[in-house]
Amino acid sequence: MNAAADLAQQSFEIEIFDIRDIPAYDQDSEEAGFPQEAVEFKKAISNSDGLLFSTPEYNYSIPGVLKNAIDWASRPASCSPLNMKPIAIMGGSAGMGGTIRSQLHLRQVALFTNMIDMKKPEILVSKIQDKFDKDLNLTDDDLKLHLKKFLLSFEKWISIFKNDHISKKYKSCLK
Ligand SMILES: Cc1cc2nc3c(=O)[nH]c(=O)nc-3n(C[C@H](O)[C@H](O)[C@H](O)COP(=O)(O)O)c2cc1C
Repeated sequence: MNAAADLAQQSFEIEIFDIRDIPAYDQDSEEAGFPQEAVEFKKAISNSDGLLFSTPEYNYSIPGVLKNAIDWASRPASCSPLNMKPIAIMGGSAGMGGTIRSQLHLRQVALFTNMIDMKKPEILVSKIQDKFDKDLNLTDDDLKLHLKKFLLSFEKWISIFKNDHISKKYKSCLK
């Protein structure tokens, strides 16, 4: 995600949102009131033109922390900033799978939450530990080039689906 943010700098800005501190979702907690961390996450999504996910793979799926953040953002359904949000997905794993199964699960979640997921190109990075140096700089030239193309495609994807009417509607119901 840091590498993408660096590469995107010239044409658009990527703001990285840390989802680790969002409390665990359940419907009773929602009825008791949204935690500030979830409100901030919803606001950040609402104020963005698109959402770029970067995920590892945990037990053939997305990490619980990511699912939890999406669950909060999707509530209440009538006020979900995920609705009609253009999204793109990247992922990397230490093995050969390159997060293929977790990305498929994320696309399934995108289906119900009505996010508009870019299908191609994909970013599935296998053996990710060989593609960065010890300071986490992206050193693999092929991946760098592919990431640039991916970001350009995402920019186009956003421009196709950017819908001010919908984002205004969801902004107006933020808590
Ligand atoms: C609980 C857990 C489950 C994992 N499951 C998978 C898996 O299903 N497929 C895979 O390729 N790697 C799996 N891994 C390895 C992770 O992809 C690897 O540890 C990843 O780099 C973790 O990223 P993070 O440090 O950002 O959480 C798993 C790791 C953990 C901790």
